[in-house]
Amino acid sequence: MATYDAYDKSKVNDDWKTPLYAWKQIEEYIPTDKQIWCPFYYNGEHSLKDLRDIIHIDENFFENDRGDIVVDNPPFSIKKQVIQRLLELDKPFILLLPVSTICYQYFPRDKNIQIIIPPKRINFKADGKSSASFDTIYVCYKINLKRDIIFL
Ligand SMILES: C[S@@+](CC[C@H](N)C(=O)[O-])C[C@H]1O[C@@H](n2cnc3c(N)ncnc32)[C@H](O)[C@@H]1O
Repeated sequence: MATYDAYDKSKVNDDWKTPLYAWKQIEEYIPTDKQIWCPFYYNGEHSLKDLRDIIHIDENFFENDRGDIVVDNPPFSIKKQVIQRLLELDKPFILLLPVSTICYQYFPRDKNIQIIIPPKRINFKADGKSSASFDTIYVCYKINLKRDIIFL
């Protein structure tokens, strides 16, 4: 389990693993010609590994810049900083985020932002339990989808 500066694990619970079906249902939208960086590290397992080659290393996301595109489920407690960092890097991304994120002031008003809306609530997993009390969507940046909003 990773710990990083300026990130107090005792105060947040961000260790939710993404189930494989969450990536499978958007597989056709994940570019096949790009190197994929999954920077958000829990215990080394990452379900996207079942579908694609990925870069997934136990290191601080904010101090690194890898691959051509980020596809991942970030720690929601620092989602604002994650989005800002990726925009600074101008790194294309597909991030799973709570749907409410698009209502925040910091959410980028950018023509390159597109969203994919899943058919039902995604249930993340932690400690053998499976749960989510909120809905998540896929926020995409510079992925060049054919439509700006895609309902799965
Ligand atoms: C929601 S979990 C997702 C784990 C995995 N990416 C997945 O999709 O199954 C987010 C993880 O990011 C890790 N994390 C928090 N801050 C980080 C940082 N600065 N760099 C890398 N990982 C971080 C947390 O430890 C947490 O387990």
